[in-house]
Amino acid sequence: MNPLSEEPRIERPPGFAFRERRKGILRRESEWDLHCEEVALPSLAKKYGTPLYVYSAATITERFAAFESAFRRIPHTVCYSVKANSNLHILRLLARQGSGFDVVSGGELERVLVADRRAAKRVVFSGVGKSKEELAAALKAGILLFNIESESELWMLAECAARYRKSAAIALRVNPDVPAETHPYISTGLRKHKFGVPVHAARELYAKASGARQLRVTGVSVHIGSQITDVAPFAQAVERVADLIGELRADGHEIDFVDIGGGLGIDYQQRALNFQDCVRAYASAVTNPLRALKVHLLLEPGRAIVGPSGVLLTRVVYRKENDGKRFLVVDSAMNDLIRPSLYGAHHEIVPVVSPAKARTVGREREQEIVDVVGPVCESGDFFARDRQMPRVEEGELLAILDAGAYGMSLASNYNSRPKPAEILVRGKSAKVIRRRERVDEMYAAELSAAD
Ligand code: LLP
Repeated sequence: MNPLSEEPRIERPPGFAFRERRKGILRRESEWDLHCEEVALPSLAKKYGTPLYVYSAATITERFAAFESAFRRIPHTVCYSVKANSNLHILRLLARQGSGFDVVSGGELERVLVADRRAAKRVVFSGVGKSKEELAAALKAGILLFNIESESELWMLAECAARYRKSAAIALRVNPDVPAETHPYISTGLRKHKFGVPVHAARELYAKASGARQLRVTGVSVHIGSQITDVAPFAQAVERVADLIGELRADGHEIDFVDIGGGLGIDYQQRALNFQDCVRAYASAVTNPLRALKVHLLLEPGRAIVGPSGVLLTRVVYRKENDGKRFLVVDSAMNDLIRPSLYGAHHEIVPVVSPAKARTVGREREQEIVDVVGPVCESGDFFARDRQMPRVEEGELLAILDAGAYGMSLASNYNSRPKPAEILVRGKSAKVIRRRERVDEMYAAELSAAD
């Protein structure tokens, strides 16, 4: 059921909302266009083509601010998780709000440095397979914290730090063995997962780390998974970390930082949960176990900040019907947004122009059950299956909602499809923050390869 057809109509605060446009000679009729802030999406599609990612700057800054406000009573730094959306302009926007960054590769680190060189001191570096070169680049940049995931990595970092005569602040990423209800591909906090070191093995490793001159043991980190909508597993993980900190301090380590990772989920079904309330509940769940410990908290939210801030605009190329099953073939595909194909993820899809009255958007159209699919040659190339939607015709625009996180950052060139353009809207202004890729750019690296 499309929630936009329900009364009262759900506004998408503050980024995406329908606005009335009068038409006809007497201007008695009206249509409703989905807007991103003050900009009508059909005008963007016309000017820049589709598929097109459109982001609302106000939504991004507002959601970042919600974290800042919810955690204001405890010393903290929000380190936005770059993997969710790594566009330089979005990184710069967040850097200006004072955000730090969670990176997992040399590429992400370089993006942060290009977006804002001064943000280096607010960067944490996570990931199970950091290479020597990546560690060296992070040491040179002077980042805040290395989240170490194995003993081998510990020695590799010590070696690199010695070579570059640097000292590295480290936390061990511990695996708290807490189950969290999410898709198995994005759950990380169980013993069977490749991430971190088991809590019970951590003390021994901390002891070893503190023997290395180039390393400064300074924190504990944890991340249990992504798209987690219940705060209880976060609290459980932080409780285990708090116990560990007690032990580590007793062992003589100075633990100043606790990095609790990211993972706070969003409401893809649009049941209109209040985001401020969600972040507040999350904040009280994770800060309670830490109150007495006097630590600086690091947070790594990605999806919760950028997910609802973006939509993927796409146009219906064909309608087709096979033995009674209806398909909308759109010009966007799994290479642009892979979440439905990869995780069976749900994204709301709404017609961008609606011939309806304010409170009944979607109602004036016949409803139908369709699969929304892309042009890629795989049956897994779909955005929705058996979805009830208002009927749309060929040439009409659809918006795939909540596509700001893990959309463009997971896009590929599969089927030699160029990556979409990206637009950042701020009030009435719309800025191209990545131009549409050209086909010749996709094969340029092959043409220039040595024979
Ligand atoms: N910190 C660490 C160590 C992580 O591994 C992740 C996400 C985050 C922070 C940010 O998590 P968030 O706040 O965005 O949930 N492609 C998947 C999500 C993969 C998440 C990987 N790690 C998806 O589209 O759902």
